[in-house]
Amino acid sequence: TARPREQWGTRAGFLLAAIGSAVGLGNIWRFPYIAYENGGGAFLLPYLVALLSAGIPLLIFEYTIGHKFRGSPPLAFRRMARAAEPIGWWQVAICFVISVYYAVIIAWAIRYVGFSVGQQWGDDPEKFFSNDFLHVAEQPGFAAPFVPGVLWPLIAVWVVTLVVLALGIRRGIEVASKIFIPLLVVLFLILVVRALFLPGAAEGLNAFFSPDWSSITDGKVWVAAYGQIFFSLSVGFGIMVTYASYLRRKADLGGSALVAGFANSSFEILAGIGVFATLGFMAHQTGVAVSEAATSGPGLAFVAFPTIISELSSGAAWFGILFFTCLVLAGLTSLISIVQVIVSAVQDRTGLARVPAVLIVGGLTAAVSIALFPTRNGLYLLDVADHFINQYGIVLAAFVAVIVVAWALRKLGVLREHTDTVSNLKVGRVWMVLLGVVTPVALVWMMVDSLRQEFGETYGGYTTEYVLIAGWGVAGVAIVLGVVMALLPWRDPGVPEDEDGV
Ligand code: PHE
Ligand code: NA
Repeated sequence: TARPREQWGTRAGFLLAAIGSAVGLGNIWRFPYIAYENGGGAFLLPYLVALLSAGIPLLIFEYTIGHKFRGSPPLAFRRMARAAEPIGWWQVAICFVISVYYAVIIAWAIRYVGFSVGQQWGDDPEKFFSNDFLHVAEQPGFAAPFVPGVLWPLIAVWVVTLVVLALGIRRGIEVASKIFIPLLVVLFLILVVRALFLPGAAEGLNAFFSPDWSSITDGKVWVAAYGQIFFSLSVGFGIMVTYASYLRRKADLGGSALVAGFANSSFEILAGIGVFATLGFMAHQTGVAVSEAATSGPGLAFVAFPTIISELSSGAAWFGILFFTCLVLAGLTSLISIVQVIVSAVQDRTGLARVPAVLIVGGLTAAVSIALFPTRNGLYLLDVADHFINQYGIVLAAFVAVIVVAWALRKLGVLREHTDTVSNLKVGRVWMVLLGVVTPVALVWMMVDSLRQEFGETYGGYTTEYVLIAGWGVAGVAIVLGVVMALLPWRDPGVPEDEDGV
């Protein structure tokens, strides 16, 4: 009863979906600050080295696994070697954790599109965000009352996501990417150009780009560069394995990885320009130095930006609407890609058709997300889960996948042969060295670095108990879940449909 695997309609469709997955909140609210903190203009050098030496090689790795073995991570790894299946499920578990909290940030951004009209955050955006909007509990905890103002937009986010997934690869994800990504680029360009014309923009850009060359010799800066590249390309937990499994036989894997990698980085640098031009304007208006105003994450998007928007004498509402709409678009396309991994994994291993798989698996993911995050504890849970899954889940999963495939199973040669057969861009031996040696070294180095900090002080000033459960607990459960899922008696998927070698 094998159904033919779904396929992308066009190469552009696949590329836009892959770019849509990579371009997310991290490009807008993470990169500008990381670059600024780690040498400004000089950061671009380690960043580019990280992109070329590990980011793009890892992208090619994932594309090739998905394309050669024609499956989402559990099936693809199983077909590579039966014993490797837990790695695939582990990646699925990571996707599950990320998607349950990532969705709620999009829900916040949706509300802020509305709040931009008339600057409803008043003159204390920080208090507005945590008290009036999120009703954050005094103490971090687990069970807490719902916050209706977050609940309904979150439900809307999940409805949109599941509808897109239910429509399928070509009619759902591809169509959504073809609309959302060009729209995002246009809106974001308008926003950046507007920001460049604000008084003080030049000072902001100076602060952002002025290079601190001494940073180049600082190990921390290199860890930050590799960290940003891994996070930003969202490599290491199977999204690209999944998307590439829907490519046609003949596909330029190497070329696509280059295009997607550079498109994502271009968007990041553009965001750096926009964000720092805006921070320069803030410095100009309020006298708060750029160095003090610069932050990342929710603090940048939901506190600093509202503060700045309120300073605009004309077009404030539009500036806010544009900015938060961009966050929504960037976030949605990423969310769609992560949830597709979970749906696709279950489809591959049970033979379930797409729509029931979306309803059951997507529905379950949505239910967990809706039960946990639009509550008065949502912000705390999100903060801790995000930190741990990024620092340990993703980095460790990427490391294990590379080591197992390259060194334990010794499959890099076979993968290279596959890529070089189907791609215009040949990756050659350089790729094997970068992936088998440079990438794992960078990953271990990042892990050691964050572990050292972790044991130095408890993350974010939370109690040890909270961090143990919400942080290490979540990262650990993802691993256990991976092993358990691989042991379940799934449908035997047999050999890949493309054993003919192409
Ligand atoms: N790569 C995305 C970004 O830069 C983040 C992301 C994380 C996307 C997890 C998908 C899954 O924002
Ligand atoms: Na990104």
